[in-house]
Amino acid sequence: MRKVIDSPPMKASVSDTAIPEVDADLLAVGLCEDEELPAELTSARGAADARAGFKQLATLHPDAPPRAIVVGLGKRADLNAERLRIAAALVAKEAGKLKAVSLAWLVPKSDEGPALAEGIVTGTILGGYRFDRFKGKSDDEPPTALDSLTLIGPSTLADGAEAARICAEAQNRARDLQSLPSNVATPSYLARRAREIASAHTAVSTDVLGREEIAAKEMGGLVAVSQGTAEEPQLIVLRYEGGGSGETLGLVGKGVTFDTGGISLKTPGGMHEMKMDMSGAAAVLETVRSVAELGLAVNLIAVIPSTENMPSGTAVKPGDVITQYNGKTVEVNNTDAEGRLILADALAYAIEQGADRVVDIATLTGAVMIALGSSYAALVSNDDALAGQVEEAGRKTGELVWRLPLHPEYKALMKGTVADLTNAAPKRKAGTITAASFLEEFVGETPWAHIDIAGTAWDVGRPYTGSDGSGYGVRLLTALARSLAS
Ligand code: BES
Ligand code: MN
Ligand code: ZN
Repeated sequence: MRKVIDSPPMKASVSDTAIPEVDADLLAVGLCEDEELPAELTSARGAADARAGFKQLATLHPDAPPRAIVVGLGKRADLNAERLRIAAALVAKEAGKLKAVSLAWLVPKSDEGPALAEGIVTGTILGGYRFDRFKGKSDDEPPTALDSLTLIGPSTLADGAEAARICAEAQNRARDLQSLPSNVATPSYLARRAREIASAHTAVSTDVLGREEIAAKEMGGLVAVSQGTAEEPQLIVLRYEGGGSGETLGLVGKGVTFDTGGISLKTPGGMHEMKMDMSGAAAVLETVRSVAELGLAVNLIAVIPSTENMPSGTAVKPGDVITQYNGKTVEVNNTDAEGRLILADALAYAIEQGADRVVDIATLTGAVMIALGSSYAALVSNDDALAGQVEEAGRKTGELVWRLPLHPEYKALMKGTVADLTNAAPKRKAGTITAASFLEEFVGETPWAHIDIAGTAWDVGRPYTGSDGSGYGVRLLTALARSLAS
């Protein structure tokens, strides 16, 4: 079988070189409004084409290095990490067309140097990403991939640049997992990835439960969703022990490797995209890996419930009553509301296994796309402090969240008629919040934050995310773990 994961990582370094000494195929320079190009470039052929308008590109031909791209950054006052992520992604795509394999980026001089450097590294690595492993050779030559990025700037930027590289490479691997079809990225495949991560890092250990053990533990949600598929379900647990204050952050990721809707079958249009219904799992797996690579002083417990959701003669049926891991009973009134059933067990399990706070991330509701599109994920939380930390991590990374409320009236919509709860409210009101209200029933008093990424995991359309898997959540959750590290 051909190798399906792990393209070679890009090298990233920092060097304080003068422009004529830059040893790279291509030099990238950002230009702000009312500012001048660096003196070494003003007389280069093409310099007159340079524009400061945000996202404008011009190619210059200095004597050395052989080529330069000038990218407009707009107003100096608007300069931030997100602008650099976008600008760097546009440059990375251009570099591929120009067949450059080494790129040097002049970091704009600013008090925000570290944030801008992060933006350049992130934008370059995410912007250069392509998922083409199943494509044969085509007539039009594919763009080359960059193998090195040098930031031209002070050496104080080096640690931040390396951290950004680790996170962005992890995010690209999460995107691979999202894009891999469900006949490759099965629950067992995700479990294999978890084992690989554990064997590469001594601070990480893993434990995987299969169908029989899941049933023996009476995880009724995961049992019900997986009973319709021949594919073995997996409950994947990863632990990272980085020390620090001793508190443990729980991370729970929805790992539905294909969501047909089950007996409450989805319509065929767009169903193929439901291979991405494990995006939360991908984000959690790769967060564990990036936290371990960064060696952050935190403790993590990650729990990934993974299964297909299929219709069949053995599938759970509308109206069936199940008992979740924490003993609550649920009427499965819509088998397409499967994510909350498996997350409910996983949240209760993560808390039982020692999570002091827990964050779940899931492609949970179509409603979140209506509410927030692809720009913000929905955040729902029972704890203002944890919610604030997630929001702050979102602002830092550009993986934005917008908090939606909890209210007893929403909770009331999830009451069952014959059981404690229903998994689907009878009307379509507040679909994202009612799903979260269901999950809240399984966390007790533990601080909990729920992130619904059905709108942000796929088809985001930013220059650095592309229009398929975005890998949303890897940088957000890693930043959250960093903010909790001591
Ligand atoms: N996986 C879907 C949510 C989803 C929709 C993800 C679109 C990505 C893109 C989830 O399992 C689902 O089907 N949710 C239902 C819930 C409803 C039946 C209460 C939905 O949102 O329609
Ligand atoms: Mn569904
Ligand atoms: Zn789903």
